[in-house]
Amino acid sequence: MQKPRLYSGMQPSADSLQIGNYIGALMQWRDLQESYDAFFSVVDLHAITVAQDPEHLREKTRRTAAQYIAAGIEPSRSTLYVQSHVPAHAELAWILSTITGFGEAGRMTQFKDKSQRYGADATSVGLFTYPVLMAADILLYQTDIVPVGDDQKQHVELTRDLAERFNSRFGQTFRVPMPVIQQDTARIYDLQNPTAKMSKSAETDAGVLWLLDEPSKSAKKIMRAVTDSEGSVRYDRENKPGVSNLLVIYAALTGRQIPAIEDEYAGRGYGDFKKGLAQVVVEEFGPVRERALELLDDPAELDRVLAVNAAKASEVANRTLADVYEKIGL
Ligand code: ADP
Ligand code: NA
Repeated sequence: MQKPRLYSGMQPSADSLQIGNYIGALMQWRDLQESYDAFFSVVDLHAITVAQDPEHLREKTRRTAAQYIAAGIEPSRSTLYVQSHVPAHAELAWILSTITGFGEAGRMTQFKDKSQRYGADATSVGLFTYPVLMAADILLYQTDIVPVGDDQKQHVELTRDLAERFNSRFGQTFRVPMPVIQQDTARIYDLQNPTAKMSKSAETDAGVLWLLDEPSKSAKKIMRAVTDSEGSVRYDRENKPGVSNLLVIYAALTGRQIPAIEDEYAGRGYGDFKKGLAQVVVEEFGPVRERALELLDDPAELDRVLAVNAAKASEVANRTLADVYEKIGL
């Protein structure tokens, strides 16, 4: 029996992923690849909606792919590829843009936020049409589910609208995908600013734990993480965002329940708790980092794997695209 289809991706927007990407996305992907026919993309076409350095972008793309694999995405089981290697993405995006309303696209809150941050002159039309490219990414693969953070929920809603609109205008062509929104407990915050999401595109990285950092460096960042003056290891998002964030990281990486961790550290200080967490983080990411660096040591082999996977992706994507061309009179 055919497994249901899953599509997800990440931008190659930094040299390393951060542990929020790992806990919030890669760990789920790793589990889901068992029961889904999964497509995982490194979305480099999305990354050029803001200015890029060409050599650096190519390097970040490879590094992102290596980290997917190091985190347990199996390129022989899942289809793990680079978006720009499959030209159908850009082709379908153009076609979908012709059935997207200007006002509809203008309501995307992520565009409003980003364009306000960058200013009108640094805001490209590509940034505006980014959600349409994302719709193409998803619809090309006849996707059933799209695991995303809640910041992407609106884009998946647009994707569903476009799929339904196209289907009703031109005949059944696209499967209408369902978003699977990441749970709150999988949301990781910045260690120095624990009410802001940890992000690989954060302006300063004192509160960011990088997958590819030296373990000792991550341990230091944990020891310096912002907490509070109460001194008890207790989950309380409202009043103890720093400690709660550390507890969430601890629980996610060990598979333990938060109350069990609170019990273990009852009556002990934050220093002990942070040391314990640092050890968990070092144990989890040490091997991931080593594996990623190994893969990056042999770029020719990595490129070969990515090319094989891009060919697999193209086969599926081109079938959808051919149907689309046929339906719309091209
Ligand atoms: P970033 O902000 O690090 O650039 P992206 O927006 O590229 O992250 O998101 C890539 C994936 O990682 C998405 O699935 C997103 O939900 C997840 N993700 C990003 N940051 C976090 C976080 N702090 N906590 C949990 N998941 C996150
Ligand atoms: Na981002």
